[in-house]
Amino acid sequence: MPPLHRLAPPLRCLRLANSTFQRSAFPRPTPPAFFRAHQPRGQHTEAAPTTSASSVDHSPQSQPDRPQSKITYTADSYPNLKRDSRFKEVTADDVAFFREVLGSDNAIIDGVTKDASDDLEAFNSDWMKKYRGQCKVVLKPDTTEQVSRILKYCNENLLPVNPQGGNTGLVGGSVPVFDEVVLNLSRMNSIHSFDEVSGILVADAGVILQAADDHVAEKGYIFPLDLGAKGSCQIGGNVATNAGGLRLLRYGSMHGNILGLEAVLPDGTIVDDLCTLRKNNTGYDLKQLFIGGEGSIGIITKISILCPQRSPAVNVAYFGLSSYAKVQQAFREAKIQLSEILSAFELMDSQSQALYARASGARLPLESPHPFYCLIETSGSNTDHDSEKLTTFLEHVMGEEIVADGVVADNESQLQSLWACREGISEASQHFGGVYKYDLSIPLPDLYSLVEECRERFQSNGLMSDTDESKPVFDVVGYGHMGDSNLHLNVAVRRYEKEVEKALEPWVYEWVAQRKGSISAEHGLGLAKKEFIQYSRSETMVGLMKQLKKVYDPNGIMNPYKYI
Ligand code: FAD
Ligand code: MLT
Ligand code: ZN
Repeated sequence: MPPLHRLAPPLRCLRLANSTFQRSAFPRPTPPAFFRAHQPRGQHTEAAPTTSASSVDHSPQSQPDRPQSKITYTADSYPNLKRDSRFKEVTADDVAFFREVLGSDNAIIDGVTKDASDDLEAFNSDWMKKYRGQCKVVLKPDTTEQVSRILKYCNENLLPVNPQGGNTGLVGGSVPVFDEVVLNLSRMNSIHSFDEVSGILVADAGVILQAADDHVAEKGYIFPLDLGAKGSCQIGGNVATNAGGLRLLRYGSMHGNILGLEAVLPDGTIVDDLCTLRKNNTGYDLKQLFIGGEGSIGIITKISILCPQRSPAVNVAYFGLSSYAKVQQAFREAKIQLSEILSAFELMDSQSQALYARASGARLPLESPHPFYCLIETSGSNTDHDSEKLTTFLEHVMGEEIVADGVVADNESQLQSLWACREGISEASQHFGGVYKYDLSIPLPDLYSLVEECRERFQSNGLMSDTDESKPVFDVVGYGHMGDSNLHLNVAVRRYEKEVEKALEPWVYEWVAQRKGSISAEHGLGLAKKEFIQYSRSETMVGLMKQLKKVYDPNGIMNPYKYI
């Protein structure tokens, strides 16, 4: 049996380089003077293979308990939104039709002919506990034909429909605003095929991301997307939001990896484009409209996706840095020196790490605080080669004083602890009550200035304090996918208040537009950014989107009241 890990060069190499990597938060390894590269994937025995990000469950169930009945109805927090009077309300006859199509009591939550308020609540409210709809019926089809019959019926009867996957979306797109019918994909969860030679997976839209990744992992492949909500989000939801996640830097976006899909249009037409070819230049690539379309033109029912080979050698390092300028230097060096094995470069500011430690009770990996932290992951096929590259890189960034301090994971559990410091920020941000989230693409030189300016704004307007409970804002934190120029600006609050929102919007969007950034890098627009699309898209582009929406969904029943 091959060794489970290989010892990397001795610590003294790094001492020569002017500083030391400490293992303060971790038990000291044997022998203590060595760094050990992470054991090859698939060969460890202590835990089942996971994606290399943390296995901590950041799914909806694991967040602090706040009664859903306390969440304000979206209709009340957005008083300008009016229910479209063209739409019919769901009646007992409609429910009878849905029941007949679905053929199983488990496939419908009926709050029309009886009181099902408690059962409906989880489908009406979102992960952030910020948006709350008032739907009375949830449908859970298990075949494409059922989806087709339901949509055709809803279209003919002007019943609006809210497509829903794992309900982990962060922009209010996954839950209804008023009484839209929720069509939840959770029962469409079969994997149809996986080709071990090409790495092409064909699966239902309702397959949970973690399950899809576990399936391909058994054959030595990796699903080309990973994110903190992987235990709950569905691959159809991932495609519908064009989710980015932790390794877009390495594997690219859904627009590139999705080879084909099957979807159902509002009139019941089944869009049969479940192509499994890498190359297919035959006219318009219509599937792209469903990728990132956020359920606005149809329901994705199946996908075909190209999965890359899973890397047997994975390393994770966590650094402390003294300035954002040093973070940029470290990223540049990582690209130069780690090049093809670099699989993630994530940024966290000191506030985000302090918030994570405070909310989770976890100890941070480095003893003393630093203004910035980076998490770097390498994934390659040759442990010796990767360790050599990583060591050279570490020596360089330490020697040049780009990085002030750092640790390298020694084993699977340390690797997961390091990833948890990054992935745990989402949950920590809303731990004290709620969070205003901004997911932005900003050119790298300017990326962090927005967080600083935002913090100054709340310091001077008197709305922020980490001790005074009367202040709505708890803290302002910045983190994100540095490798993709994607900043997450989170304003952690004790409660949602309009005054806070007014201080942030449209200021954040104007700031981003002035720097030619995007107001949504990866989370989408949903309801949260409905009013702000013009900061990232010209009138012409929005006009073209509206035309397309009309072609596919002339009655406007698909996910109404959202961005389009
Ligand atoms: P939902 O939340 O149910 O729906 C999202 C949108 O897609 C809605 O508009 C819905 O109508 C539509 N939709 C869902 N399924 C379908 C379908 N089958 N057909 C048509 N439309 C559909 N996002 C990232 O991009 N990167 C991250 O790193 C990331 N990390 C996250 C971490 C945490 C802890 C959480 C809670 C969320 C995170 N997200 C991230 C956001 C979210 O997980 C993603 O947007 C995810 O892709 C949503 O999938 P879902 O199945 O939960 O979809
Ligand atoms: C992340 O990168 O952690 C996700 O996009 C979720 C978030 O911003 O909370
Ligand atoms: Zn993200």
